[in-house]
Amino acid sequence: MPRVLKIYMWPVWFLGLFGQAKSFRANPIIGSRLLNRLGLHMMRVVLARLVAHIRWFFLMGKMPKKLRQDYARDGFCVVEGFLDKEELAAIRAEVLSSAGEARQMVQGNTATQRILLDHAYLANKPKLHALSEDRTFVNMLSYAGAKATAPLLYIQRIRNGRLEGGADPQKTMHSDTFHPTMKAWLFLEDVTPEMGPFTYVRGSHRLTRERFKWEYIRSCNAGRLSDGYSEKGSFRAGPEDLTAMNLPAPEGITARAGTLVIANTNGFHGRGQAAAGANRLEIWAYSRHNPFNPLPGFGLPFMNRIEHFFLHAYWRHMDKKAKSRGVPSSWHLISAREMFD
Ligand SMILES: [Fe+2]
Repeated sequence: MPRVLKIYMWPVWFLGLFGQAKSFRANPIIGSRLLNRLGLHMMRVVLARLVAHIRWFFLMGKMPKKLRQDYARDGFCVVEGFLDKEELAAIRAEVLSSAGEARQMVQGNTATQRILLDHAYLANKPKLHALSEDRTFVNMLSYAGAKATAPLLYIQRIRNGRLEGGADPQKTMHSDTFHPTMKAWLFLEDVTPEMGPFTYVRGSHRLTRERFKWEYIRSCNAGRLSDGYSEKGSFRAGPEDLTAMNLPAPEGITARAGTLVIANTNGFHGRGQAAAGANRLEIWAYSRHNPFNPLPGFGLPFMNRIEHFFLHAYWRHMDKKAKSRGVPSSWHLISAREMFD
């Protein structure tokens, strides 16, 4: 049956317009060429940005002014020496002795390995627990993500050239979605150019006339794109696209261990090219809010617990589904030893 005849799905697709739904392929309203020619996608883009500015205004006391200015101007900010040597050593020691629930996703030849910093994992890790509740840390991430609830925190290891496979799609510059979103990296090791540093196109989060035009044209054809990601709402941008948007070349953000980098991943970003076998170890933070909700919500600790509960339930559900098909789920379980070997 053609998808448009699935009448029972239309309310779901319609409601998706008012939330984070972004796939031009999965949602025929979001992917409608006619509606996007009439400006549907760009209306969502503009409205979501206006609403994010309202939430940033409410939360402005949570991040120092200089960093807010950097974040607004460049799309990212860098806090060097966020962890001093002793804190770094103590946190690294806890991380490397971990035996938590580690999961891995493979994209091309690169493996991303993560452990969620939830209540159970943090129970006997005092330094990581203190970091997860550190007001300076959590407040800055809350401001950047325009969401009062603390972000999800993970230990993350990116392992380049870990497997046989094609190019890592995260190494192409891309915007995660149509609205401002936050990701952050607290590096636990020095990041050199050979290690595939986080890479950002400075200033690319701004909705300039050129970005507006590029995004509008892309949205009109997005349902027909086939790079595997753009059609799902995460637009890829090659060098010629960046030139068309009058944007500078991507910059690899090298950093000393203990540096915190916070980025608006609506701007174009990706992983830097890395030598096979190179890897990065970091605390990784992620935050997304309903892009059309002007209120940042409440920073109540139990909200995190609820998010963790649903995340675990989702992973278990995906594990079961994958098992029934005889394949590993996209975020499949691995042993923590495999993460730190
Ligand atoms: Fe991304």
